[in-house]
Amino acid sequence: MADPGQEVVPVSFTKAWHSQPYPFISPTRPELSAKGKNIVITGGGTGIGNAIGVAFAKAGANSIAIIGRRADKLAAGVSAISEAAAASSSDMTTTVFHMVADLVDKGQTTKAFDAIAAKVGKIDVLVSNAGASVEVGPMATYSAQTFRQAFELNVVTGLHAFQAFLPHASPGRSVVLNSTTALAHIAPWANVGAYPAAKAAALKMWDQIAKENTHLRVVSVHPGWVPTDLNGHQKGATDSGESSLFFGCFFGYPSLLTHSFLFLKRSSSILTKERKIIRLTNNPGPDN
Ligand SMILES: NC(=O)c1ccc[n+]([C@@H]2O[C@H](COP(=O)([O-])OP(=O)(O)OC[C@H]3O[C@@H](n4cnc5c(N)ncnc54)[C@H](OP(=O)(O)O)[C@@H]3O)[C@@H](O)[C@H]2O)c1
Repeated sequence: MADPGQEVVPVSFTKAWHSQPYPFISPTRPELSAKGKNIVITGGGTGIGNAIGVAFAKAGANSIAIIGRRADKLAAGVSAISEAAAASSSDMTTTVFHMVADLVDKGQTTKAFDAIAAKVGKIDVLVSNAGASVEVGPMATYSAQTFRQAFELNVVTGLHAFQAFLPHASPGRSVVLNSTTALAHIAPWANVGAYPAAKAAALKMWDQIAKENTHLRVVSVHPGWVPTDLNGHQKGATDSGESSLFFGCFFGYPSLLTHSFLFLKRSSSILTKERKIIRLTNNPGPDN
């Protein structure tokens, strides 16, 4: 069996690749301020979602609500984000709290978003980040049940989050950030199971949501290869959860991503300096 990692020819649209955050994308840049904004992050208790929460805390968000199934992980996640908010140079106070919900369950998801909105008001940013890997294996013998499970955990979770968020989206231009994966964009790897198919389906779902909801700014971002619970904290993983601070960039509409967006007018996805595939949907935003 071929090593899936050997099948991919690396491609870069830029000369420099980064695996760590650097000043230009710092959430403390005034242009990237999240002052006054209410943020909801699904899967924000751990890994990349938690790092995104820390970034929004550093950017001075008004509130950050994280959603997941495990209360203990969420409580630890709230502590990490709160610590970042307390240590931040921002003069804003950030309210950080969690909601326990299984996003596969529509009722639980709706209840969580309703409770968040009752507490903080309209939601400015939804980070649809919750997801999970499933058993790997060749398609020839792959279990349909596991295939369905991958779609439940990576597509239905996003659909329910979107539907529960929509009535509470702040008027004007709310932002949705979807944690995608390179596996949904690049040439196929063998024997990796249903995960890439599910993530590709999620990507198309968010495209469609953007088309139907032009008041939303929807961006899918590949967060890199990050050692987290999802991949058993793989030793070879090249990126840090912190590099997901890049997510904050989408908040600062001005110049930062202009070049990428100009590129994206011609192409639907780009591999950025930060080793992220960003994929802008049909709603490129006011600066384009
Ligand atoms: N790590 C990487 O290299 C990598 C690369 C590309 C893309 N991604 C994507 O990045 C996102 C975050 O993953 P991660 O690497 O940070 O792994 P992680 O730490 O395992 O995070 C996944 C989060 O999603 C939550 N979650 C999963 N199913 C859920 C459900 N049904 N309802 C509510 N919450 C649920 C989990 O919390 P509970 O289990 O407590 O619910 C957990 O906090 C995923 O979408 C993943 O596909 C990761």
